[in-house]
Amino acid sequence: MEDLVRAGATDEPCDDARVVLEARGVSKTYHLGEVDVHALRGVDLSICDGRMLSLMGPSGSGKSTLMHIIGLLDRPSEGSVIVEGEEVSRMAPNELAAVRNRRIGFVFQSFNLLARTSALANVELPLVYAGVSGNERSRRAREALERVGLGDRMGHLPNQLSGGQQQRVAIARALVTEPSIVLADEPTGNLDSVSGVDVMTILQELNAHGITVVLVTHDDTVARHAERIVRLRDGMVVSDEAVADRIRASERREAVVKEAGGEG
Ligand SMILES: Nc1ncnc2c1ncn2[C@@H]1O[C@H](COP(=O)(O)OP(=O)(O)O)[C@@H](O)[C@H]1O
Ligand SMILES: [Mg+2]
Repeated sequence: MEDLVRAGATDEPCDDARVVLEARGVSKTYHLGEVDVHALRGVDLSICDGRMLSLMGPSGSGKSTLMHIIGLLDRPSEGSVIVEGEEVSRMAPNELAAVRNRRIGFVFQSFNLLARTSALANVELPLVYAGVSGNERSRRAREALERVGLGDRMGHLPNQLSGGQQQRVAIARALVTEPSIVLADEPTGNLDSVSGVDVMTILQELNAHGITVVLVTHDDTVARHAERIVRLRDGMVVSDEAVADRIRASERREAVVKEAGGEG
């Protein structure tokens, strides 16, 4: 795969890191009856290997649409998406799904867990789709749950867990396939402040272990946990800047707990 990567690219904000995902001139138009909604208008974006990037912008600016497109869940109306040097529009649907399942993990604001299914079984699910055998599945799912601090909650159903714990199950589910990229869309949006800090701590830890993280948020404080912030407005990139005073979630926790009046 290495030789397919645009290793020689110098016009990128990645310094010496390679570009793992790239959007070039991406537009997305939704057709709603008579109305065309231009959700994205010519977006260029490079996701750098092993880095942490926030995609920021007000509600409706196109963040989720862009995340779905770079996550290979949706296709652009115009422009191209390049994964590991390969143009996505040239891939067959099954090839696209294979790349997505192997390389990308998703975390959503609303957790998206199966309700009548234990934490462990929720985390095993992507491995079922990947055809991993039962024993191996359970071993890897346990390991992922331990990694997010839920080793003692494996048999719990989602409604027996707090919002923060449910989001950690969702992160374990995203991790269990060992993706190289995690895309998180407003992952703290439904959480109390302490749970939000815990989720950000986990995302920063994953990044410290080499996983590329793209964080979609409308919240400036959340965004500043990344190294770089790309701002969208009306479907266009309006700025792309390094974060000067990056926030370390683990260092904030004590203050946030105090402000919240103790642990939930
Ligand atoms: N499936 C859809 N059909 C029609 N319009 C959509 C759809 N998804 C998003 N949009 C519109 O596209 C624009 C961008 O939406 P979105 O990407 O969800 O923004 P954000 O995540 O920044 O809030 C909005 O105007 C939204 O209403
Ligand atoms: Mg959104």
